[in-house]
Amino acid sequence: MDKLRITGGRTLHGEVTISGAKNAALPELCAALLTSEPVILNNVPRLRDVATMRQLLDNMGVQTQTHGDRGGITLQAADPIQAEAPYELVKTMRASVLVLGPLLARFGHARVSLPGGCAIGSRPVDQHIKGMQAMGAEIVVEHGYMVARLPVGKTRLHGARIATDMVTVTGTENFLMAAALAEGETLLENAAQEPEIGDLAEMLIAMGAKIEGHGTSRIHIQGVERLHGCTHQVVADRIETGTFLCAVAATGGDVVLRHGRADHLDAVIDKLRDAGAEIEAGKDAGGDFIRVRATGRMKAQSFRTTEYPGFPTDMQAQFMVLNCIAEGTSKVTETIFENRFMHVNELVRLGAHIQVDGKVAVVEGISRLSGATVMATDLRASASLVIAGLVAEGETIVDRIYHLDRGYDQMEEKLRGIGADIERVK
Ligand code: EPZ
Repeated sequence: MDKLRITGGRTLHGEVTISGAKNAALPELCAALLTSEPVILNNVPRLRDVATMRQLLDNMGVQTQTHGDRGGITLQAADPIQAEAPYELVKTMRASVLVLGPLLARFGHARVSLPGGCAIGSRPVDQHIKGMQAMGAEIVVEHGYMVARLPVGKTRLHGARIATDMVTVTGTENFLMAAALAEGETLLENAAQEPEIGDLAEMLIAMGAKIEGHGTSRIHIQGVERLHGCTHQVVADRIETGTFLCAVAATGGDVVLRHGRADHLDAVIDKLRDAGAEIEAGKDAGGDFIRVRATGRMKAQSFRTTEYPGFPTDMQAQFMVLNCIAEGTSKVTETIFENRFMHVNELVRLGAHIQVDGKVAVVEGISRLSGATVMATDLRASASLVIAGLVAEGETIVDRIYHLDRGYDQMEEKLRGIGADIERVK
């Protein structure tokens, strides 16, 4: 298994290009199932999860083809399509559940493996099932699969009012895609408001869907008979952007994040400014950018993860590293996933002072970390260990970086480009 070898202590300087968002690209690849016409996605990040989603769609009979060097993928889900998502693929990426809505809406049936457990929490899909049933689908779980179909005599899902027990990102995305082709109007209440939802809705509207209210907690969808092809640019990855912002705030330096969207990261940028980082955002000939400058020790910041527009759970581990070497003590409260402190013991191996009690981690800032061998346990935990390695004295080896490759496009090359001493050890 590949590892990363990092020698810490360097400040970061220069420019990084932010890639397209993993959590927008994955549902948007699935949205191609809603039409038999070609769909062109640009700015698709080169990630292991994207490759897995392509494999899942190829398996179903979707024609997929990459083009150009700017992350272009053309997809065409012409009939016949095998409406099945096998366990072998779903177990490696739970976002595979995002094929359920489009398959049911277009083909009236789907057989999708249940995702099973996950390192960061139990993550059930009961709300996805509840929403599809509200739109008229009959779903049984058998042999580890959700077997979904329309009642005899029915050819389309019907509109419904769906109010989920909690805010669910992929649930909202599944409902959006299903409702786009349903008969009548659907109202989503308690809908997720993440920027990736807005980006998916913009793509569906470009395919002919009638959607209003995306980006708020109430979304109206007027179903249409059929959708057509489109060309769509995947939005920039706000979590990759936030990860680099935390890296520069931790190491010190002056870096421009090309395509970074500050308006998608308010909660994180507010905390970084309170910690002492200088952050300016703008737009120039090259598009959106964020410039971050940091010198000296940051001030520790307590925070609580919540749904968007609150502090994202996908930034919790990376910001915790900042608190590990900041002045003062901070409290980090994780409210979304019940097991998202797996990085804590690895940070403690680097000398960090962290006490966990249930959903709360108390971090006592210290002046320096010391390099060691650590192990990645999930995607964002691996990013936090990379940042820790950049600040730790001496050498850090991060093992199991296949987790990192799932969600970061050429992380070590980008870091080397701004002065980090980092290399992949095959
Ligand atoms: C999405 O996961 C993201 N993944 C996650 O990013 C992110 O952490 C999460 O949203 C929260 O922001 C993708 O977009 C592919 P949820 P999702 O449904 O949709 C519970 C990363 O690092 N719940 O919003 O699976 C659930 O257990 C990944 O890029 C149910 O109980 O998350 C959790 O506690 C990790 N039943 C909460 O709701 C359901 O049917 C929020 O989960 C659905 C969710």
